[in-house]
Amino acid sequence: MSLTTPQDGVRPAAAAKVTPQSLLAQKQSAAAISAVTAYDYPTARLADEAGIDVVLVGDSLGMAVLGHENTLSVTIEDMLHHARAVRRGTRRALLVVDMPYGSYHVSPEETMRNALRLVKEGGAEAVKLEGGATRADTVRALTMAEIPVVAHIGLTPQSLHRMGGYRVQGKDEEAAAQLRDDALALEDAGAIALVLEGIPRELALQITSLLKIPTIGIGAGPDCDGQILVFHDVFSLSFRKPAKFVRTFGDAASFIRNGLSAYREAVETRKFPSDQESYHFPATFSLERFGAEVVDGVEHTACVS
Ligand code: KIV
Repeated sequence: MSLTTPQDGVRPAAAAKVTPQSLLAQKQSAAAISAVTAYDYPTARLADEAGIDVVLVGDSLGMAVLGHENTLSVTIEDMLHHARAVRRGTRRALLVVDMPYGSYHVSPEETMRNALRLVKEGGAEAVKLEGGATRADTVRALTMAEIPVVAHIGLTPQSLHRMGGYRVQGKDEEAAAQLRDDALALEDAGAIALVLEGIPRELALQITSLLKIPTIGIGAGPDCDGQILVFHDVFSLSFRKPAKFVRTFGDAASFIRNGLSAYREAVETRKFPSDQESYHFPATFSLERFGAEVVDGVEHTACVS
């Protein structure tokens, strides 16, 4: 099966593979970076075919596809399971996989083992982890082990309990200065890109202009080097009130719900399947030898006792 079948919204097949270096070049040439989450083969494939630059297997899969309340219970095994599926659907985009809560908090050895598993077993081309300057040593160690790292600061969902809820971060001078210092420390440690989530637009602009590496915003305004959204928010599949920063680009929930209602109705009224959607005996088939009779043009097996 080709991943480059020409269809509406499909980028020309020749578009080059996205790498950490090409993301840097995009920042330098002010070409905006598009990113979206994906958790399975079909959505990864659609994102890749649409020319999205970065596909993130986010730990938001905990809510988006596993139905959890938050990301905290997501495990490394969950991430690997979904990363493998997304890997199979992703060719051009850079594939980034989240390190889930607890997978980089115990010891440097365990952190390294988990990150290596995401690369070796999950096919990650980069891993993402949350936190500021306190994560700089981790970013440095993974980078030295040839694992590109995307850092993530601001509203970091894994810090839900410490933050006391999902709140916009960096709203006072001290908190904003801390986030700016965090961004510089993470860049210095070798991060290839920085996700800025839930911070004032003005702060995102400041950080974006200070850094050489690209910033990718979510709820951080339009001045970041790129934008990321959760797939299920983009297509109205989240079953919750979207945050202020979410824009819905298609109502897949209504589309699927309507399709399922039509399917149920067709089954209940016996309009599905039709004769054209059924298999038939070949012309050479002998009803006599088989012991069947034809009723209304349809073959019915006779009761052979
Ligand atoms: O898990 C996730 O989906 C993320 C993005 C929102 C950046 O971390």
